[in-house]
Amino acid sequence: MEEALSEIFLQFEGKREEIIPILQRVQENYTYLPEDSMRQIARFTKVPESDIYGVATFYAQFRFTPTGRNHICVCRGTACHVRGAPAILEEVAANVGLEDEGTTEDLEYTLETVACIGCCALAPAITYNEEVHGNLTKNKVRKLIKAEAGKNGSE
Ligand code: FES
Repeated sequence: MEEALSEIFLQFEGKREEIIPILQRVQENYTYLPEDSMRQIARFTKVPESDIYGVATFYAQFRFTPTGRNHICVCRGTACHVRGAPAILEEVAANVGLEDEGTTEDLEYTLETVACIGCCALAPAITYNEEVHGNLTKNKVRKLIKAEAGKNGSE
């Protein structure tokens, strides 16, 4: 971790106003903000660690736990909800080995829900690693997850 962090810090001067871009770079590198990196950022910017946490928790983009290699986002917006999003969420969760939103222990999947992914005409919809899949049924969800797992060589 040390080495990657030092490389990131090399791109900055350690100013307070650089905290957000530093957090972004650290998260890009680790997929989340490890505890130790928060301490190091505090040291580097000479800003109290509590303030670094303050900034990071203010923005929804920052995470404090690692994310899975596959990122699935189920839309729970109105259009998707009325067209069966709860059942889709249940099906996705069951197929990746989760009970609800979260990350699997093997870090293979992270499942989240969002308010709308901007393609309500395709409801119910999800994104799988940023790619939108719409007009879903439980069966299509099963097939999609299986096909994607095949691509990753994880099945
Ligand atoms: S409500 Fe689901 S895409 Fe908009």
